[in-house]
Amino acid sequence: MARRAHVYPQVAATAADLVDGSVVGVPPALAARDAARLARRRNADVVAVGRGAYALREDAARAEALGLGDLAVRRLIRPLPVVPAREREVAVRRRLAAGAPGVVVMQGRAPLGVVRRSIAPAVVSMRPRLERWLDADSLALLATVGRLAEAHGARAYAVGGVVRDAWLPRARVPRDLDVVVEGDALIVARALAEAVRGTLIEHARFLTASVALRDGRSIDVVTARSERYGGAGSLPRVMPAGMGEDLRRRDFAVNAMAVELASGSFGLLDPLGGRDDVDRRRLRVLHPLSFVEDPTRIFRAARYAARLDFALDAWSARCRALALELAPYGELSPARLVAELELILADAEPGRALAALARAGAFRLLDPRYRATRAGIARLAAMPATLAWARTQGLAVEGVELIATTLTAEAPREIAGAMVRRLGLTGAPLDRVRDALARAPALRERVRAPGPTSAAARAVREAGPTALAWLDLTNGASTRPAVERLLTQVGRARPELAGDTLIALGVAKGPDVARVLGALRDARLDGKIRDRQGEIDYVRGWLQHGEKEG
Ligand code: CTP
Repeated sequence: MARRAHVYPQVAATAADLVDGSVVGVPPALAARDAARLARRRNADVVAVGRGAYALREDAARAEALGLGDLAVRRLIRPLPVVPAREREVAVRRRLAAGAPGVVVMQGRAPLGVVRRSIAPAVVSMRPRLERWLDADSLALLATVGRLAEAHGARAYAVGGVVRDAWLPRARVPRDLDVVVEGDALIVARALAEAVRGTLIEHARFLTASVALRDGRSIDVVTARSERYGGAGSLPRVMPAGMGEDLRRRDFAVNAMAVELASGSFGLLDPLGGRDDVDRRRLRVLHPLSFVEDPTRIFRAARYAARLDFALDAWSARCRALALELAPYGELSPARLVAELELILADAEPGRALAALARAGAFRLLDPRYRATRAGIARLAAMPATLAWARTQGLAVEGVELIATTLTAEAPREIAGAMVRRLGLTGAPLDRVRDALARAPALRERVRAPGPTSAAARAVREAGPTALAWLDLTNGASTRPAVERLLTQVGRARPELAGDTLIALGVAKGPDVARVLGALRDARLDGKIRDRQGEIDYVRGWLQHGEKEG
């Protein structure tokens, strides 16, 4: 039988036929600035950095724009697929469609060139999946946004978590929806607010708006944009752009998918391989300087990894290591750092995320000299349990203060001070952190020691929530039952007499009132006073003979 190819002879394109860019070789230690210049001169998109390692010219240029022109170009290498010249076209196209920014084509042992241009892949409809996953109202709402955008000459897309999580076997349906508009987001948001009779909040300067729905959820409507970072860790300048660019500016490929909302079929846009990454439970940055441009992504990665049970791929972990090496980030504000820690604390698996951050050295962002210890990592992992316990005890603990306490407990004084400053802790919060650390040893002994209840109860009462949480985190196994008992007793031992009554009985206004109230409480704790009359007698005695008589 004749082979098909003989019957239907046809010209099959090979990788060599597709090459549309060139590759130039550079020494690995060459500065990014010089690599970018050389590549520009040679009109090359890709630089070969030693054998089998490649960097993109655009990444070298990005390093320069960030003020990192001196960085060795080998620090910017990215995994690029490499194929022989005779590889079939379809195999090359498949790699580009999976999100590779280019495919290097080899002629023997030397790179022949690179294929960068990809043909738009067939659009996959997400309608069936979204119908199974989202409630009918949310789906109808998304379709409404799509129609309204179209009516105003724009195009709307759902992006971020809602698209990512739709590919997971089990995920919580997001409360809030993120929509990107190619065109004027503000006009679309206004039309949406009117259509659903929601409340509109516009941030015209940022070309964004949000519409609060009457059921308590909200939709963020954002103009598609590109971002330019003028410095490491600074806030970017944003410019309206197309959807392709908008997806490329994002943190991880899994968060860089979009679903078009106008056609009714909810077609998926996945130019960067996000879906494949969801299947592999992989977090992959979109360029080697992603974490340098925005170090808060280090915290985001830990939060997603812990919540979704994903992991950074090896290359992205190296990109994170580079970003941490380049700390400190003067332009990264304490408020942004604290906001990320709070997001972690409010997310599904804070202990896992915080411990993973410590293991990765991420707290170098607070001070480059900081080194996590085993004890510190274990405490970060145990922190959510302590915070949950504190809530059951009615202790209002600020999670970030407890993180700060944990980090500073194991750092030398100078480094600890710098870290706390980096978190913007001053005034009362700073005092609470310092106090928790200073008070812990004596508090532990006092709580465990036998003896009159009042002395231990006074120690617990004076300690304050942060100090008690810190004691629990460090010594909870031996102190928790005693602290719980003492807190209950302190709660019950409230004097019946109020401050005003004490003053009416003759106690001088001012610190004496607190002193007498404290003494009444102690006397109740130790069983010396049992009722109101006992308190009155006590106060009279105190007034006659002074404090020591009590
Ligand atoms: N994003 C980013 N870099 C950041 C913050 C956000 O690229 N530092 C992008 C991501 O594409 C992200 C989207 O903005 O998907 C929306 O961010 P956010 O609302 O914080 O996250 P969600 O995707 O909604 O994910 P989740 O709600 O599950 O945290």
